[in-house]
Amino acid sequence: MKEKVIEAINAQIKAEEESSRLYFAMANWCDTHGFPGSAAYLYIHADEERMHMIKLVHYLNERGAHATTQELEKPQNNWDSLQNVFQDVLTHEQKVTELINNLYEVCMIEKDYLTSNFLQWYMQEQVEEEATAHTVLDKLNLASSSQGGLFHFDKEMESMAKTAAAAPSA
Ligand code: FEO
Repeated sequence: MKEKVIEAINAQIKAEEESSRLYFAMANWCDTHGFPGSAAYLYIHADEERMHMIKLVHYLNERGAHATTQELEKPQNNWDSLQNVFQDVLTHEQKVTELINNLYEVCMIEKDYLTSNFLQWYMQEQVEEEATAHTVLDKLNLASSSQGGLFHFDKEMESMAKTAAAAPSA
């Protein structure tokens, strides 16, 4: 594999692991601020990001390159409100989409078509993750305007967490 592609994938491995830690920190915040359903959802999301990382690690190793384990940034640990948490989820996913696009561009410049093909899965995943983050935020904004709305929102997140936990992992 070309060195530039290896470097870019290693950078993405770090980004996915940092995403996992950010969602883990968000889950911890929800857990300690009366939102157990949102916490359950975000703990699962943290696991999914770790799976995204591991998939890249296996890919690099299978291609005869070497995935490196890297130093990570400390994630944010506090938020002002549940709305801030889920707004940050959306913003973060948009950032990840940009990173995947940039990684794809490196592969195209380096003519690494196998890796470009491998990245299709991540591109599709980003479309779904951004759409879900938008939907959750819309629900939360609607819920915030009514009495007891946040309680019901949190219950809905609990059922989304159950559905996600039951789904086969990719
Ligand atoms: Fe691995 Fe949610 O992006």
